[in-house]
Amino acid sequence: MPIVRFIREGRDVKCRTGENLREIALREGMQLYGFKGSIGNCGGCGQCITCFVSIESENQGALSPVTEIEKIKLKNRPHTWRLACQSIVKSSVVVLTRPQSPPANSEKLIEDALIKGLPK
Ligand code: FES
Repeated sequence: MPIVRFIREGRDVKCRTGENLREIALREGMQLYGFKGSIGNCGGCGQCITCFVSIESENQGALSPVTEIEKIKLKNRPHTWRLACQSIVKSSVVVLTRPQSPPANSEKLIEDALIKGLPK
């Protein structure tokens, strides 16, 4: 059973292979959206570009491949960013929610999150 490690929230969440990352985050009560997305989002259709996450683990195959929508919408964003609503969990992954406004100690949080091992 994969684990999604939410860095900002300091939580490891078990999920099923094939679950949608946005749905996992919302189910677990994570604050996935910044201000704009919290007052209005597309509900997971890949249109509002407000469900950014940064994938910090190196396992590129942990999520489904970048979708055509993401290729367009994330064109000028860091290569580690994904849209949570377009991302299907295939194996354990380390995620930073709302990377557009990272916590002040984000480098340390990311480093600590990556040091701890993840199940496959
Ligand atoms: S929820 Fe709108 S792009 Fe992901």
